[in-house]
Amino acid sequence: MKRVITFYFSPTGTTEKIVMEIANNLAEKESCCILHHDFTLPNGRTEYPDFMEGDIVVAGVPVYAGRVPNVLLKYLSGLKGNGARAVAVVLYGNRDYDDALLELRDILNNAGFSVIGAAAFIGEHSFSYKLAKNRPDMTDLEMAADFANRLSLYVESAPKDLYISGNPDYKEYYKPMDEEGNTVDIRKVTPKTKDTCIDCKICARVCPVGSIPEDNVKILTGICIKCGACIKKCPVQAKYFDDKDYLRHKLEMEEEFKERREPEIFL
Ligand SMILES: Cc1cc2nc3c(=O)[nH]c(=O)nc-3n(C[C@H](O)[C@H](O)[C@H](O)COP(=O)(O)O)c2cc1C
Repeated sequence: MKRVITFYFSPTGTTEKIVMEIANNLAEKESCCILHHDFTLPNGRTEYPDFMEGDIVVAGVPVYAGRVPNVLLKYLSGLKGNGARAVAVVLYGNRDYDDALLELRDILNNAGFSVIGAAAFIGEHSFSYKLAKNRPDMTDLEMAADFANRLSLYVESAPKDLYISGNPDYKEYYKPMDEEGNTVDIRKVTPKTKDTCIDCKICARVCPVGSIPEDNVKILTGICIKCGACIKKCPVQAKYFDDKDYLRHKLEMEEEFKERREPEIFL
């Protein structure tokens, strides 16, 4: 039995939107059932779906620092494709996807999938409400549906080495700069909580690394990956970053990468 399976990580929901649009259209076109595996939260990364030959897996991750988020590498290294076909999808915040799509294709190929297509789409930047605001939008979703229609032509064809632009040695993780052009390390930056917090615990439930404890949502018990989930999903906007390097980097990007970028598709 042919199945379409979504397999994605999406702290602020943009990757999920595009993966769903591609998968729903593909399942309709192929008249087959659709299953979902969301590995955004820690409990989604304790096991893997049983992929099998005949499956078409739509795998999506956001681009972090021009690469597949490194927090996912350990989990993804245990993936087993078992000959299933896969579509590699990355979402990036209108700066660049650098080598992330190539890296995702390689991860899928090495896991035993046959990658039949790939795409880089644009999503509102995790750090900002301005950069790529409200994307993916209707035009992006139409492109995702069109991509799915074109993909169905490749579903039955023989495996091939899918070309994807990028540097096969992968660039170093992209790092922001300060005013003097020195790289700054924003890994230590953590979110703050305003007194207007209503203690609804949503931030604790959406943190993809499980670092916000439900019994005290104002502290962190683990790392922060700056994914923006606790900030963008807070119903009263109580979570925020105030680190000056982070804020300058955000403002610089909002200015420098204003120009709309369009999705890229590889078949
Ligand atoms: C730590 C971090 C690094 C990021 N690095 C990049 C980047 O290198 N290029 C880019 O264009 N967007 C970058 N983004 C933005 C995300 O790729 C983008 O907003 C994506 O749509 C978020 O996906 P999600 O909504 O599924 O979480 C970064 C976001 C985070 C949190």
